[in-house]
Amino acid sequence: MEQTFIMIKPDGVQRGLVGEIIGRFEKKGFSLKGLKLLTVDRSFAERHYSDLSAKPFFNGLVEYIISGPVVAMIWEGKNVVVTGRKIIGATNPAESAPGTIRGDFAIDIGRNVIHGSDSVESAIKEIALWFPEGPVNWQSSVHHWVYE
Ligand code: PPS
Repeated sequence: MEQTFIMIKPDGVQRGLVGEIIGRFEKKGFSLKGLKLLTVDRSFAERHYSDLSAKPFFNGLVEYIISGPVVAMIWEGKNVVVTGRKIIGATNPAESAPGTIRGDFAIDIGRNVIHGSDSVESAIKEIALWFPEGPVNWQSSVHHWVYE
C-alpha cells in the first residue's frame, strides 16, 4: 500500500489546525502510520528541501520551517500521494480551491500550512529522513469498509 509524508508546518501548529488537518485525512479513509511533534534544526530543514537550494525563497523557507514545532506524519492508502496533494490544495493559496486545506486556511505561499510529498519517490525519501525508525505497523479494522 502506498505511503506519503505529510508535515503540518509551524503556522499550522501555532494556529491550532492540527486536529482539523488530521481529521481530513482520517475522514477520507487513509491510515495514520507515523506521527510526531518536533522542532527541526537548520541542517535538517536544508536536507528536507535540498532540491530547492538554488531557489531565491530557499532561506526564507528554511527559516519558516525551523521557526517552531511541526507535526510529521506518514499516511497510507491507495493513491495517497496524489490524493493527499488534492486534499492539501495548490502550493500557492491564492490558487488553492475552497475545500482544500490551503484553500480554506492559508493566504500567503510562504505560510501555506502544510507540506505533502509530490511523488512516490519523494515520499520514500522523506519518510526515510523523518522516520528512520520506520512506520508503525498496524491494520485499520475498517479496511474492508474503505476498500472493495
Ligand atoms: S518550485 O519553484 O516550482 O520548485 O516550487 P514549488 O514546487 O511550487 O514549491 C516547492 C516548495 O517551496 C515552497 N515555496 C515557497 N516558499 C516560500 N516562498 C515562496 N515564494 C515559495 N515558493 C514555493 C512551496 O510551499 C513548497 O514547499 P512544500 O513544503 O513542499 O509545500
